[in-house]
Amino acid sequence: MSRPEELAPPEIFYNDSESFKYTSSTRVQHIQAKMTLRALELLNLEKEAPQLILDLGCGSGLSGEILTEEGYDWVGMDISPSMLATALDRDVEGDLFLADLGNGVPFRAGTFDAAISISAIQWLCNADSSNVDPKKRLLFFFNTLYASLKRGGKFVAQFYPMNDSQTESIMSAAKLAGFGGGLIIDDPESKRHKKYYLVLTAGLAERNINLTGAEMEAPSENSSKLNRKKRKLMETRKEYINRKKETMRKRGRMVAEDSKFTGPLPTVYEPLPPKRQGENVMTYIHKQLLAKHDPTGKRRDLLNYETGLRAGDIIKVTYLDRSDVTGRIIAIKRGQRNLGSNILLRTKLNRVGSEVRIPVYNPNIRNIEVLYKPKTYMPRAAHYYIRESRRDVDDVEAFVRRQNGEKKKR
Ligand SMILES: C[S@@+](CC[C@H](N)C(=O)[O-])C[C@H]1O[C@@H](n2cnc3c(N)ncnc32)[C@H](O)[C@@H]1O
Repeated sequence: MSRPEELAPPEIFYNDSESFKYTSSTRVQHIQAKMTLRALELLNLEKEAPQLILDLGCGSGLSGEILTEEGYDWVGMDISPSMLATALDRDVEGDLFLADLGNGVPFRAGTFDAAISISAIQWLCNADSSNVDPKKRLLFFFNTLYASLKRGGKFVAQFYPMNDSQTESIMSAAKLAGFGGGLIIDDPESKRHKKYYLVLTAGLAERNINLTGAEMEAPSENSSKLNRKKRKLMETRKEYINRKKETMRKRGRMVAEDSKFTGPLPTVYEPLPPKRQGENVMTYIHKQLLAKHDPTGKRRDLLNYETGLRAGDIIKVTYLDRSDVTGRIIAIKRGQRNLGSNILLRTKLNRVGSEVRIPVYNPNIRNIEVLYKPKTYMPRAAHYYIRESRRDVDDVEAFVRRQNGEKKKR
């Protein structure tokens, strides 16, 4: 039987009927509860102090319910709207967030005392389209999770790896992100009941993880059985830099001296003063950036509400490499204090509608030229709805040529 991860992306697989089926099955409820309790046992949190836990891939709240029963406050993240809707229907206690774990854990640094994930992170090993790189998503997930945990915060994830290489990818991403810990396998001999728990700490924890009765299966770094590829996957950032430096030295290249960190130092920004030259610091910075990216003020003029561009105008954007894009403006997004402003252009090429978003202050843009302004404009919002309708734009370059009375070249 195929695994759910192979059938469809999670937000599609866990649709309304699957969420209902999953959540109402007493067998599933029982298994998820058991695994959540085991995760909590491994976390070994102090019971007396209040703890805020993040439940990653919280689904319809089966794991979250156990957190509530055990007296923890929790926040849940999941990619499936149907699962979250079921959780809302069931009045779970946790706060719920619709988000993709592969896009990172979007919370302020040091927010959570601990995190759990029950039967979810194996989904991150799958690529739903050719432009998705599961390794990058896993690494981003672990990096941002690390940041969102308090120093010494712990993370336990029960997951269902499809094969050893998935387990390795997950573990090496966790290690690269700076987590310490390893893998615990419960019931390793039983094909049916075997369960994998990733048990990690973000820095040194005050209370150790509870490892009673656990069998560690984290591959040892010195193990002679590990081949070079596996060793590379397991190495930390520091080890990676040292290895690269050693290779460069062997090739006779100049290499920076080893420091006690032997790696890039974390970037620390000086806190911004509330005012600069008597102005609110953000206004000041935006002014500086505008002066840098738009010294003549020409781009700002384009964004002027009265005299600037409007949805319906046809413009030609020329880049520094002299390539260009011509299209009809269907929307202008004026960013806060202008800097993020961008223009959505639409044209038709070989009868296929194509759209491109142009950031107005992109330093690679050489010029933005207005080719055509209509005599009468449609309402601004109407432009959004022209796609594939009879009012859709045509090949705008051909349109401008026709307006200028140019004949088609034969
Ligand atoms: C088997 S359910 C487990 C739900 C819950 N933890 C429990 O114990 O009942 C797996 C959940 O992971 C979620 N999930 C899978 N991939 C995800 C991703 N990339 N981001 C967020 N959630 C994801 C799915 O939507 C699904 O709700």
